[in-house]
Amino acid sequence: MLVMKKDIESRDDIELLVKSFYEKVKIDPVIGSIFTDIARVNWEKHLPVMFDFWENTIFYTGSYLGNPMKSHQNLNKLFPLTKEHFSRWNQLFALTMDELFEGDKAVLAKQRAISISTVMQLKLFNGAG
Ligand code: HEM
Repeated sequence: MLVMKKDIESRDDIELLVKSFYEKVKIDPVIGSIFTDIARVNWEKHLPVMFDFWENTIFYTGSYLGNPMKSHQNLNKLFPLTKEHFSRWNQLFALTMDELFEGDKAVLAKQRAISISTVMQLKLFNGAG
């Protein structure tokens, strides 16, 4: 039977998306250890920041005022990131989205993830910004 998934509509949906994404990230052989061993992410702090970030990115709520470039520049100094890391990150993000949601907002979020990821890589790998 063909069951339509719903689109992302609320903060609850974003929380489910972000938590499910990091469940995949944490155990991923390509990027998992960057989060768990190198950056030693404090999930209780990081998750709410990411809820705000994605809520702002999808619904323009103004809930995120941080600077993601800074975090990744610091991380890149500690552990040089590669295009393979970014492509895996985007793959896991799209996979998580497609498992849970479908619709205009779901498509928008995946596109935004790719464009932010592209800009991050341009800045990191070209030494600018
Ligand atoms: C290779 C890919 C990536 C890796 C390994 C990575 C890793 C990390 C790590 C370790 C942090 C810091 C967590 C902490 O506070 O302890 C972080 C923060 C963050 N990342 Fe990424 N990231 C990647 C790609 C991306 C992409 C593509 C986006 C956006 C689409 C993104 C959005 C963010 C945001 C918004 C924060 C929070 C920054 C803040 O504290 O305000 N990341 N990331």
